[in-house]
Amino acid sequence: MRHNFTSCLSVLAGMLLGVSSVNAQSTTITGNCTAPESPEWVKSAVFYQIYPQTYYDSNGDGIGDLQGIILKLDYIKSLGVDAIWLNPYFESPFCDAGYDISDYYKVAPRYGTNDDAKRLFDEAHKRGLKVIFDFVASYTSIESKWFQASARQDTNKFTNWYIWNDNTWLNPPKEYQDAFIKGYSRRNGQYMRNFYYCQPALNFGFALPDTNYKWQLPTNHPDVMALREEMKNVVRFWMNLGADGFRADMAGALAKTANVEGNEQFFNTHEDATKKFWQEIRDMMRKEYPQSFMVSEWSYPKAALENCFHADFFHWFDGYNDLFQKESWRILNGYSQGHSYFDVEGKGNITHFLKNYLDQYTPTKDKGYICLPLGNHDNARLGNNRSATDLEIIYAFGITFPGVPFLYYGNEIGMRQLPTSWPQVEGAYRPRNGARTPMQWSNGANLGFSTAKADKLYLPVDTAKNAPNVEAEEKDPSSLLNRTRKLIALKHSEPALANYAEFVPLYAKENTYPFVYARANGKDVVIVVLNPSSKEATATFDVNYTYSKTAVLSGKDLKFIKKDNIITVNVPGQTYSIVKLK
Ligand code: NOJ
Ligand code: CA
Repeated sequence: MRHNFTSCLSVLAGMLLGVSSVNAQSTTITGNCTAPESPEWVKSAVFYQIYPQTYYDSNGDGIGDLQGIILKLDYIKSLGVDAIWLNPYFESPFCDAGYDISDYYKVAPRYGTNDDAKRLFDEAHKRGLKVIFDFVASYTSIESKWFQASARQDTNKFTNWYIWNDNTWLNPPKEYQDAFIKGYSRRNGQYMRNFYYCQPALNFGFALPDTNYKWQLPTNHPDVMALREEMKNVVRFWMNLGADGFRADMAGALAKTANVEGNEQFFNTHEDATKKFWQEIRDMMRKEYPQSFMVSEWSYPKAALENCFHADFFHWFDGYNDLFQKESWRILNGYSQGHSYFDVEGKGNITHFLKNYLDQYTPTKDKGYICLPLGNHDNARLGNNRSATDLEIIYAFGITFPGVPFLYYGNEIGMRQLPTSWPQVEGAYRPRNGARTPMQWSNGANLGFSTAKADKLYLPVDTAKNAPNVEAEEKDPSSLLNRTRKLIALKHSEPALANYAEFVPLYAKENTYPFVYARANGKDVVIVVLNPSSKEATATFDVNYTYSKTAVLSGKDLKFIKKDNIITVNVPGQTYSIVKLK
């Protein structure tokens, strides 16, 4: 009856994966796993993402605020999460919902004051919650004093803090052409943007400056170095006020590179100079704030986890979309094939995702975590024509998969993606606008979000009669809210579900359901079976592992029929099971 962890599954599991395209690197359940270097609390942490403008409005002006978040901390704690990621709350003209920062050192008045931020950190800490802020290092707002000074004709401290070419009318080299903005100021030159025109790129230098273009400063230019020091102080400022770390926006988009064009320039550069900056910050955090956590929006774990970040969001890549996003419109990375694996229609494909995931996971698993976000402010809501049961299966996946789970506010109650025809405020082009609507607290006025008149709200609230809300779901033990809480609690109680526990795919076939994998940590082994499709499906796999019984931890108590080492399991449609081998 003893577990045989040394049994070799590689050959058979490789066959069961059944696709030449998925080359599973680790198909032996060994229970061996090494937690990447991080503070202890990160090792099984679950995060909750809050979009401050639409979480809770404490003063009736129609926009959420920091005091509103403070008032909801007990609710957040009740979810069982460990930490909160706050989208930007800094002073900004809000051309990109606050990602365009005009003063890094100041809370935007619409959200409150720096004292409110301090109170939020303190109140969260009293409840055992951590809070990380959004660190936007790659650009500021055009309204930043730094940029306004940089845009002047005279030479000053900020002249080189942004990337300007030296001729207002002469086009920059081809690879950068669509990133330069002409005619903004009297300064003779065009500035480089890092996203919208209102987000001028801060100057982290050029990896291989072209000597024909003197304005391409090297990455160790004194002005670049001065900017880097200032950015460290920005981090220190919020850490000293009580933050527990940060999420780095567009973390890969700092140093520029020749021959990299278009969006790649913003999202897909892997320059050593960029890594070096983050490595310095990581060192600073180790020394000055040893309990802190850094997660990047880079979507290239091989670079991001190279001693830079503890974790990297892996969602701007070919594969994440195959999981959840069935919309035909997507931002930045093209168009959907129209099918998502986690959908009742059952037309998804898990192997494309898994192949790309393993390609990053296998070489990085001892270095840091890969985060597959459970929704965020840049994608359509997971609740896009999906039922609570569909969503629970998605959360069962997200919470049992390796890495640090991030749950987007409102997804715990099944908030819906709202129409893309709704207002596109503050740069929220579709589908982002429909995913940023106010949190639904009750079925009262404005669904309990705000006492403002409905037309004063930041975005309208869901108008559906049956719009889900916290108050109703609290009362129903079988609500999505309560099911989500149970999954989060399970993650904390099972060592095999720790963020770093071993991951072994057991059954993942092209265009096939279900998807089955094991997580293992020492002697604890958990098997996860996921069948989001409406049709019954069967999996056959080998765990070559001696156990006397299975104990279902969550989901349906499926029958594991075992013959020799081969397990067969029939999985009804829209069903998942998290099973412990005992
Ligand atoms: C990534 C943020 O998540 C997104 O909301 C923003 O628009 C872009 N960075 C550019 O600022
Ligand atoms: Ca408010």
